[in-house]
Amino acid sequence: MSGNGKVVCVTGASGYIASWLVKLLLQRGYIVRASVRDLADPKKTEHLHALEGANERLHLFKANLLEEGSFDSVVEGCEGVFHTASPCYMNATDPQAELIDPAVKGTLNVFSSCIKTPSVKRVVVTSSMAAVLHSGKPRTPDVVVDETWFSSAKVCKQAKMWYALSKTLAEEAAWKFAKDNSIDMVTINPAAVIGPLLQPTLNMSAAVILNLINGSSTCPNASFGWVNVEDVAMAHILAFEVPLASGRYCLAERVAHYAELVKILHEQYPALKLPEKCVDDKPFVPIYQVSKEKAKSLGIDYIPLETSMKETVESLRKKGFVSF
Ligand SMILES: NC(=O)c1ccc[n+]([C@@H]2O[C@H](COP(=O)([O-])OP(=O)(O)OC[C@H]3O[C@@H](n4cnc5c(N)ncnc54)[C@H](OP(=O)(O)O)[C@@H]3O)[C@@H](O)[C@H]2O)c1
Repeated sequence: MSGNGKVVCVTGASGYIASWLVKLLLQRGYIVRASVRDLADPKKTEHLHALEGANERLHLFKANLLEEGSFDSVVEGCEGVFHTASPCYMNATDPQAELIDPAVKGTLNVFSSCIKTPSVKRVVVTSSMAAVLHSGKPRTPDVVVDETWFSSAKVCKQAKMWYALSKTLAEEAAWKFAKDNSIDMVTINPAAVIGPLLQPTLNMSAAVILNLINGSSTCPNASFGWVNVEDVAMAHILAFEVPLASGRYCLAERVAHYAELVKILHEQYPALKLPEKCVDDKPFVPIYQVSKEKAKSLGIDYIPLETSMKETVESLRKKGFVSF
């Protein structure tokens, strides 16, 4: 087991991606120090305690992104720090307080704990394709987006894409802090993440699939990259384990329009009522490519979108979010 006895920490451990990360870290033999906001909420902790190896090697801590020093005890003694905690939703009423402050101040807060802790060798930050895509450059089927693309805060602000702005500013702040303080940092920049849920609550990206299968008659006119949660969690681990890993890693198995997702769902569930058209009559928002080169160099061999879709639907059914 590659993690044998090594101590790492995961921030925001009860979340969708982080729960998978904790699961795979435990499977690999790591000792995991994991932060949650509310230790007394079984919806945030029970599924973590139930993971294989959790009894022996999972230690939960209470920490909040907005409380200075909150992560000191979590990071203490760790070789690797996985910073995944960040609010992940689109419909904020006060974007500064709800999204931007926790993303940016929270990242700096976690990094401040890292520089107090000499054992920390590398910090892996969960960024997003949202911090990559919105550069102002056009995206069309022949365009290949890669790790050299950076979203512009100005573009995000103009389009009122507050979540994208929070991730863009957080990644910018993280790179600056890492450079100024000689921290070995790697970012993982996933597209929309789907696949089985470990946590009992519904996260934003799984809700996107739920919204296609819960009887709605239209789908959004949008194209996104899609990636399986297990690949995302594994990419985090490899970004820590592979000595030569560096910089950013974009993760997307495929970019697909919602109409393509509906087509896949129709093939998998022919009897299911699915959206019959897009919400508007405008031309489809074009797809684009996302380079797979760096992800491949890390050792990621993507789970196909069709499998990820099926796993998501089955998980949503099993957890009672939909019945058919
Ligand atoms: N899902 C995607 O499609 C996707 C794609 C690209 C990047 N990402 C990034 O992946 C990370 C995890 O997202 P997810 O999809 O797993 O979402 P999620 O399930 O909503 O998890 C978000 C986590 O952040 C924690 N958090 C939020 N505000 C916090 C605060 N003030 N203090 C401490 N913790 C706080 C949450 O804690 P509570 O459980 O206490 O609320 C939760 O554990 C985020 O950085 C997100 O931007 C997600």
